[in-house]
Amino acid sequence: MRNIFKSTILLRSILILLSIFLIAACDNLLNDDDNDENEHEDEIMYSEYGDDESHQTGNTCQNCHIAGGSGEGIFTIAGSVYQADGTTVNPNTTIKIYSGSNGSGDLLATIEVDGEGNFYTTQDMDWTGGRYVSASSATNEEFMQSQVTSGSCNSCHDGASMARITVN
Ligand code: HEC
Ligand code: HEC
Repeated sequence: MRNIFKSTILLRSILILLSIFLIAACDNLLNDDDNDENEHEDEIMYSEYGDDESHQTGNTCQNCHIAGGSGEGIFTIAGSVYQADGTTVNPNTTIKIYSGSNGSGDLLATIEVDGEGNFYTTQDMDWTGGRYVSASSATNEEFMQSQVTSGSCNSCHDGASMARITVN
């Protein structure tokens, strides 16, 4: 009787230890998964003059580069710049975000347009209250007159329902 009692306790202890071990192991696995996902989504990315890593020129980048999307990185501002004809891309130009209209107020962000004519960044951007944007080349700066409240630039500037972002 005593022996049976002892071995039951022993068995129980082993089972408890085993389950603690298993829970810890599962927890580790889950945490690892979380970390992988965060690494992917927290990736810092931004376009630079001459870069050729981007793709999908003219398409809406944030269809994919969003939380849970297939694209690498969560883009806060992204799109494509064209020459005045609206069909020839204009690489190595610059996008600027201001607090005031027509270049007034503070310059909040400057994004280099890459060698494919695309720009993108994962930097924090607060659109609350609306911001003003421009596209500039070495010689010209074109201002959007209305306020912008979203960095998904190509979702409006699709070249069909609305003109492309252009600067000459
Ligand atoms: C249909 C979905 C989709 C759209 C739209 C899209 N992307 Fe991507 N993008 C991806 C995927 C998936 C990857 C990762 C695999 C790869 O490199 O192709 C990626 C990767 C990238 C990379 C990293 C490439 C590298 O070599 O590290 C950049 C930069 C990029 N996209 C920019 C853009 C820009 C700018 C736009 C808009 C003009 C855009 N993407 C539109 C899905 C998309
Ligand atoms: C809600 C739709 C919408 C979004 C989003 C949007 N735009 Fe515009 N944009 C317009 C409209 C409409 C015009 C023309 C009227 C005006 O200037 O307000 C315009 C004009 C412009 C112009 C001046 C004309 C030109 O092409 O030279 C620039 C530059 C521009 N947008 C850049 C951007 C950038 C950069 C973004 C993303 C940060 C952006 N836009 C997001 C609707 C939009």
